[in-house]
Amino acid sequence: MNGFASRAAAALMVVACPAMPAAAADVAAGKAKAGECTPCHGANGLAVAPDAPNLAGDSVYYLTAQLKAFRGGERKHEQMSIIAKGLTDEDIADLAAWFSAITVTATLPKVE
Ligand code: HEC
Repeated sequence: MNGFASRAAAALMVVACPAMPAAAADVAAGKAKAGECTPCHGANGLAVAPDAPNLAGDSVYYLTAQLKAFRGGERKHEQMSIIAKGLTDEDIADLAAWFSAITVTATLPKVE
């Protein structure tokens, strides 16, 4: 890891830690809990509903922040606000661990 990346990772940990729940995140539990997300976000975290974003490969920090924002009302969406209301801190940690652990690859389009 180069200097910038390790400093960035350290900074991210400092930012992310206060938002982390006490319970350790469990990828397997997250996979099991993600069943209710798949109709829109896809079984592999690549969205199947046209208005839903991909979750696969997103950072734990981002996923946690967004789910807590939906749950807390700072971010609003007809469906996600209701879904997030039913999630505990542990659920959010597990779900974030699962979706962030999915590996995604990107292929850039050929542009002349
Ligand atoms: C009925 C469809 C539906 C289901 C089921 C659903 N979502 Fe969503 N989700 C959406 C849509 C649509 C958005 C985009 C919201 C917006 O436009 O602000 C979204 C946004 C999100 C975001 C923010 C992503 C970003 O890029 O900002 C997260 C995180 C998320 N959903 C997680 C989940 C999780 C975890 C579950 C299961 C517990 C779940 N969703 C279930 C439709 C759904």
